[in-house]
Amino acid sequence: MTAKTLIVANWKMNPASFKEARRLFEATRRAAEAARHTSAVVAPPALYLRELRLSYKGMRLLFAAQGAHEAPGGAHTGEISMAQLKDARVPYVLVGHAERRAAGETNVDTRERVAAALSCGLTPILCVGESRRDHSGDHFAFVKEQLRTGIANVPATRIAKVIVAYEPLWAIGAAQAMSPQDMHEMSIFVRKTVVEMCGDAGHKVRVLYGGAVDETNVADLLLNGDVAGLLVGRASQEADKFAALMRAIPAF
Ligand code: PGA
Repeated sequence: MTAKTLIVANWKMNPASFKEARRLFEATRRAAEAARHTSAVVAPPALYLRELRLSYKGMRLLFAAQGAHEAPGGAHTGEISMAQLKDARVPYVLVGHAERRAAGETNVDTRERVAAALSCGLTPILCVGESRRDHSGDHFAFVKEQLRTGIANVPATRIAKVIVAYEPLWAIGAAQAMSPQDMHEMSIFVRKTVVEMCGDAGHKVRVLYGGAVDETNVADLLLNGDVAGLLVGRASQEADKFAALMRAIPAF
C-alpha cells in the first residue's frame, strides 16, 4: 500500500453536547496528528460539523458529513446539501450508510448523491453491505447491485475519486469484525465489479472496511484485508479507544 491508510471516524448521533464534541474532537485531533502514516477523517453530527471544521487550523485532520441530499436546495426539511458542505469546507460525505438505508435511503438515492457529491467537488464514501450472509453466496449479488446502481452515473474518468466502504450489517455494532480473509475476497469482488463498469480506471477505487473495528483488530484488517482504510463507529466515539486504535495502525 503506497497511499496513507484512511481512517474514517463516524461519530453517528454522538456525543450529546457540543462541549463533549469539542473534547472528543481535541483528542481525535491529537491522535490523528500523532499517526503520521494515516489520513484521518472525522464525521461528527451535522450540527457540530461546521464549527469544528472552521475552527480547525491544521491540515492533518479531514472532515466528512454523515450524509447529504442530492438536490442543490429547495423543499427538503431536515436535510443538508452538498453545496452547504462545500461552503463549510467539508471534503468528504458518507452516502448510503446502513443506518441511512434503514431510514429509507435507496440505491437510486445513493446514485444521485454520489453524482451530486462529485459535481460539488466532494469525495463520496459509498457504503455498501449485505444484512445477512449464508453459504449461497447471495451477498455478492446484493453488494453488486448496490455498487452498480451507486456508481451508475460516475464516468470512468472520475471513479478514482469514489471511495467504497464495505460494511456488512451483521458486523456493524457487533462484537466481532469480519475476518480479514473474507474482507480480502470482498475487496477483490468490489474492484472487479467497478472494473466491469468503468474499465481499468476501476482498479483505482479505494475500498474501506467497516464494522466492529477497534484497536485489537485494526492491524490484522489493514495487513490482510486488502483495504485502503477503515470506517470506525464505536471505537471513534471514545477518546482513549480511538487513540489506541490509531497507535495500533501499522506503517506500510
Ligand atoms: P461500529 O460501526 O464500528 O460501531 O461497528 C461502524 C459503522 O457503522 O460505520
